[in-house]
Amino acid sequence: MTKSSEVAVVGGGIIGSAIAYYLAKAGHQVELLEAGKVGSGSTQAAAGMLGAHSEFKEFGASLYSFARTSQAMYEEAETDIRSLTGIDIERRTGGLMQLVFNEEEKEMLLSQFSSLKGVTWLDCPTVTKKMPGLSKSVLGAFHMAEDVHVTPEIACRGFHTAASMLGARINAYTSVDEIVKESDHYRLRTSKGEWQAERVVIASGVWSNALLQRSGLGTPIFPVKGECIAVTNTQTPLTCSLFHDQHYIVPRNNNELIIGATKIKNDWSTEPTLGGLQTIVEKARKMLPEVDKMPFRRSWAGLRPQTSDGKPLIGEHPEMKGLFIAAGHQRNGILLAPATGKMICDLIGSNVVPEEWKEAFRVDRLNTGEEVLM
Ligand code: FAD
Ligand code: GLY
Repeated sequence: MTKSSEVAVVGGGIIGSAIAYYLAKAGHQVELLEAGKVGSGSTQAAAGMLGAHSEFKEFGASLYSFARTSQAMYEEAETDIRSLTGIDIERRTGGLMQLVFNEEEKEMLLSQFSSLKGVTWLDCPTVTKKMPGLSKSVLGAFHMAEDVHVTPEIACRGFHTAASMLGARINAYTSVDEIVKESDHYRLRTSKGEWQAERVVIASGVWSNALLQRSGLGTPIFPVKGECIAVTNTQTPLTCSLFHDQHYIVPRNNNELIIGATKIKNDWSTEPTLGGLQTIVEKARKMLPEVDKMPFRRSWAGLRPQTSDGKPLIGEHPEMKGLFIAAGHQRNGILLAPATGKMICDLIGSNVVPEEWKEAFRVDRLNTGEEVLM
């Protein structure tokens, strides 16, 4: 028997889960269809930084403004998720220190951050007093008080559990193999039978290409593998994340430090390599020499869903009305999840969405011109 719903969300990572949450909160009837365990894709590999300052070089009206909006939305999401589900998404508020080791780096970053209110320069004595275990060779650090972090798999669980408390149905181990446009709805062929939905949102992370290609949007997403290590830290209390040259150390609950991460383009493998782990250990040692003494807990790798212009695809298909895409969030899917969920919800509800965002994230801007097969 064909099951039906108003909106079907394909993919249960942080993006699909946040979309399901904001849609359910706005009163839509939602089915989330996830091929595996919910949150088991790129989301479970992430460090969880909400790095609206540390992760960007340009601070304009599109991606940065979207990132700042999303970062701020986590405060309300944290409270709502806790009150609906009892889940604590572990939003830790110490911010992030972007370390600087020489004058050249300092000058470059000063020119980037000069117009931003949320970024403060701290010299070496100030920063090493705040964090005694830090490398003595730092020149100083830019403190980004609002670049806080969450625990990604718990945030993802928080969003989809809250969505389900609000009426959404979460279907794990349900792979969507085909989306077919019929007169006034879509038919989805899945590993668990057929579904019918008025609207469909493709939120399948790095695996979205298969479905995008069939809708004529080409294959705009490619993987960037990232490897991480977790260690036990009982000696150096870290009150904030440390960041340098896109590498980082992020403190979690249970005395855990997350050390990451490599960036390997077009590598679909999800096993960490010794070479990759060695690279991130060296980068971490440069920031916090004491990592050498910390007991190893585990290592892993995940695939960032990357696009060629560094921005996600968020919006409605230009020709196939009712088909939405929210994918390609690369290094920032955890950060961008609330704003993405809300933007998809507003587009579906025909509410106002800033034109800069619609234009910047247009889903056909990277179109390679493949034929429509749906
Ligand atoms: P995913 O989490 O991959 O979810 C997609 C889901 O779709 C998967 O669960 C998959 O099983 C499902 N799926 C695929 N195909 C189908 C189908 N046909 N039918 C049904 N389901 C399907 N971001 C940050 O903001 N901060 C960080 O600190 C951070 N650190 C990172 C560190 C590393 C090492 C890595 C690898 C990434 C990091 N990221 C970070 C990026 C972040 O993890 C991703 O941008 C984010 O998880 C993408 O979420 P997603 O929901 O789009 O994809
Ligand atoms: N945002 C951190 C990472 O992708 O590694």
